Amino acid sequence: MSARPDVPVRTEGTAEAVERGPLPEKVRLRVNGTEHVIEIEPRVSLLQALRDDLHLSGAKRGCDQGACGACTVMVDGRRVLACLTLAIACEGQEITTVEGLAEPDGRAGWRLHPMQEEFIAHDAFQCGYCTPGQLVSAVACVQEGHASSDAEIKEWMSGNICRCAAYLNIRAAIRAARERV
Ligand code: FES
Ligand code: FES
Repeated sequence: MSARPDVPVRTEGTAEAVERGPLPEKVRLRVNGTEHVIEIEPRVSLLQALRDDLHLSGAKRGCDQGACGACTVMVDGRRVLACLTLAIACEGQEITTVEGLAEPDGRAGWRLHPMQEEFIAHDAFQCGYCTPGQLVSAVACVQEGHASSDAEIKEWMSGNICRCAAYLNIRAAIRAARERV
């Protein structure tokens, strides 16, 4: 039976609609102080939206299943795993990625965040793949008041895995930065 051209075709609930999945929606994301509107499907993760739609590749895709912490960003000052967070659920909240830690220095350059400076000073990375997540997590760890001792830093940074095992230097950098953050 051929469809009548004057009758709109309804596809919701049909096999075609199920196969196609949900339609993209306009989503407003505020990232590092800048508002963006993107069209994404409701199932898109915050990590995918940041990396693929906004081209902010700082947050890394390590495991994509909540096990490594490489994708850590802050949402309204709270650390979240961007791979396990729906982008659409972050509308109206302030998202901070590693790209948002440094600040303009007023002379067309950038002033690194104290945590970034201490990571460099303490050689707190090797390959650097985990570093964006470590940095965001470290800043949040200090802001949360969870960096008063080495044991506490170890506990509250335990969600960020470093395959190069730079843990000693990461903790030294956090200790050095905690008075400056
Ligand atoms: Fe998100 Fe590993 S990529 S926890
Ligand atoms: Fe290589 Fe952490 S510096 S994984």
